[in-house]
Amino acid sequence: MRKPIVAGNWKMNQDSEAAEALARGVVEAVGGVEAVDVVICPPFTALERVAGVVEGSSVGLGAQTMHWESEGAFTGEVAAGMLLTCGCDYVILGHSERRQHFGETDETVNRRLKAALPAGLAPIVCVGETLEQRQSGVTEDVVRTQVTGGFDGISGDDASKVVLAYEPVWAIGTGETATPEQTEAVHAFIREVLGQLYSDEIGQAVRIQYGGSVKPDNADELFGQANIDGGLIGGASLKADSFAAIVRAAL
Ligand code: 13P
Repeated sequence: MRKPIVAGNWKMNQDSEAAEALARGVVEAVGGVEAVDVVICPPFTALERVAGVVEGSSVGLGAQTMHWESEGAFTGEVAAGMLLTCGCDYVILGHSERRQHFGETDETVNRRLKAALPAGLAPIVCVGETLEQRQSGVTEDVVRTQVTGGFDGISGDDASKVVLAYEPVWAIGTGETATPEQTEAVHAFIREVLGQLYSDEIGQAVRIQYGGSVKPDNADELFGQANIDGGLIGGASLKADSFAAIVRAAL
């Protein structure tokens, strides 16, 4: 049985004070939930403060990206070890906004993955097609390339520790959710790809979240699909009550 995982990606929102307040709200609402892994991912600047809030609760802490080197002349970047000392358990890698605006590629996602895993961070690797790619019928090719490139050289043991997030780019922040059937089909396809890269067992073991305009009123139906193991939530994770309602939908 795969344990559902619901993560809030706060993106570039919440200064330290607002982040602390939001984290308190999340801990109050779902800090005792054990049947779902609950994770919040504030901006770097708020990580340490939020770590103090989630400590002792079942809520995990994640960062939104990291660099693959452990230190050095990489102005503006943050290394895995630094995230660990801020109290992080998770790190999001290859979010479509990082790919689109900051030049991340499958190759650099792969490098980050190879640094996050040995450091002991649980990676959440994002994949997903653009609207143009969906309309031209290449969704499966795109997702296969992203998964294959992202996991290049990763052992089966390590692969099973990775959480994947399928986030169709056209559904992110648009209010347009992929239908449960569309989503389920891609999730099942990702398991097939993992099955080919590793084994059926690993394909079945890896948790795959859906992300893209998940809200309290559509979460139930999405999470009810056999191959959807929770969600990566943007906008609706910025309010404790809506995030908590989504977490409960995964119970
Ligand atoms: P929205 O939930 O705001 O569509 O964002 C999804 C997302 O990008 C999560 O990483």
